[in-house]
Amino acid sequence: MSLLFADKTILLGVCGSVAAYRACELASQLTQQGATVLTAMTESAQRLVCPASFEAVAGQPVITEMFALCVQPGVEHIAVAQRADLFLIAPATANILAKAAHGIADDWLSTTLLATRAPVLFAPAMNTAMYTHPATQANVAQLRARGALFVGPASGNLACGDTGIGRLADRDDILDAVAIALHSEKDFAGKRVLITSGPNYEPIDPVRFIGNRSSGKMGRALALEALRRGAQVCVVSGPADTKPPAAAEIVYAATAAQMHDAVMARADQSDVILAAAAVADFRVEKISEQKIKRNDNALRLTLVPNPDIIAAAAAQKRPGCKVVGFAAESHDIVANADKKLRRKNLDMIVANTISGEKDAIGADKGEAWILLPDTQPESLGYIDKTLLAQHVFDRIARLA
Ligand code: CTP
Repeated sequence: MSLLFADKTILLGVCGSVAAYRACELASQLTQQGATVLTAMTESAQRLVCPASFEAVAGQPVITEMFALCVQPGVEHIAVAQRADLFLIAPATANILAKAAHGIADDWLSTTLLATRAPVLFAPAMNTAMYTHPATQANVAQLRARGALFVGPASGNLACGDTGIGRLADRDDILDAVAIALHSEKDFAGKRVLITSGPNYEPIDPVRFIGNRSSGKMGRALALEALRRGAQVCVVSGPADTKPPAAAEIVYAATAAQMHDAVMARADQSDVILAAAAVADFRVEKISEQKIKRNDNALRLTLVPNPDIIAAAAAQKRPGCKVVGFAAESHDIVANADKKLRRKNLDMIVANTISGEKDAIGADKGEAWILLPDTQPESLGYIDKTLLAQHVFDRIARLA
């Protein structure tokens, strides 16, 4: 697991929504990814979840009362407000949004919200009627106008039995929003980044397809890094196991032809194009309309080549656009990647091993090299995809 939140102090404010129990998992994930998580719970949150749960997963004392400083001097609210790199309120109730919007400070959490100068990220969770009430909407708008960040709420089944908007956003969406909020250097602000990701499924008949092992993890890591650095991101994703970050525009494209069309429709508006997808090089010439029945004879399929998406995008890129490919190689890795860099007219290519113990496909890590047209290949070793994405954007930022 990457330590995306290493050296960061996150103040997690937990309010009294039924979703409070889901904040434990957030505290755990943030801690596992390197953050120091200080949890503060409102009185009603403590009636729903025991503070000891947060203490156990985050390994830090939990702040439960305003005047705890006599017994817990380290959690005095001004000191914590100044120490935090981010103030995450999850779940955020209608009550805390109202208090924050109007500067009401009547408990530890609301008082500390007034005192902090760290970015504040709200993850609201409440009943649909409460969330859509004009009072709550006005409070959200006011907080946004003051620079507060929001993630969710999502739509779905609510604890009250209703279905609608108001669910606490998914854990990974909140973690992504934290990662984006914590990264202050927005060196790709105003840039449009287009990323292909995941595998293609080329149909054989109504139930069968030819696919590959790509998980979409590299495309996801690239998208999150671009978002962290302030870019506007579009991910054209094949049917991958890994969901791209919700803050990106996501276009689903199952086949290489669909992916090609989605990329070409956007290529000339993009400042950076990254091709992390494991594109299917061939498709079945004639897809059977009916399920092919089993028999004892050999089945012969004629495969015809698919377009080379990244080569087509590089040929039509607008001036100044940087095009980056990924080469999946089982042998002669650097030499083969270098050929692809030149043949496809790319600005950069990342070579990956796809065999042996360091196989990058489907994994969190891979062995990687960065190749540019005019410099020596740079070996990055066996590297986590999150870290690799950071290196890739560092290098793109340095391209003239
Ligand atoms: N790529 C693409 N369209 C294709 C094939 C590949 O856009 N039809 C992109 C991939 O997304 C990747 C780069 O080209 O960024 C290299 O892909 P790779 O599969 O390593 O190489 P191929 O060009 O398919 O060549 P080969 O299969 O012979 O290694």
